[in-house]
Amino acid sequence: MSLFDQINTADNSNEAAAKEKHIPTIKLEKISDGKVKVKINVGEGKHPNEIDHWIQWVELRVNNLFIGRAEFSAAIMDPITEFTVNVKAGSVISVIERCNKHGLWEAQVTV
Ligand SMILES: [Fe+2]
Repeated sequence: MSLFDQINTADNSNEAAAKEKHIPTIKLEKISDGKVKVKINVGEGKHPNEIDHWIQWVELRVNNLFIGRAEFSAAIMDPITEFTVNVKAGSVISVIERCNKHGLWEAQVTV
């Protein structure tokens, strides 16, 4: 199965080198009860950011519901962004990112 045949995760991808650079890092910062800041960084500087190879966008979902998307221009922007969301304890926050050469990658955290 190629990287473009599925949403890749830390568990289902055998592409170790690609995994390290593509799994979104998600850090949560509690703002108040029920409100968290979701800080997203793809690759933490390890992924190329060039005109022909870059992270095109990240998408935020809560309990699999689309919440928002940030799009990035090649080379001039780093694939780093944050969202502030209202969530209940136990909610699953997932981030999907798309690399133009290596497809879709997802990471999840539970609040
Ligand atoms: Fe890539």
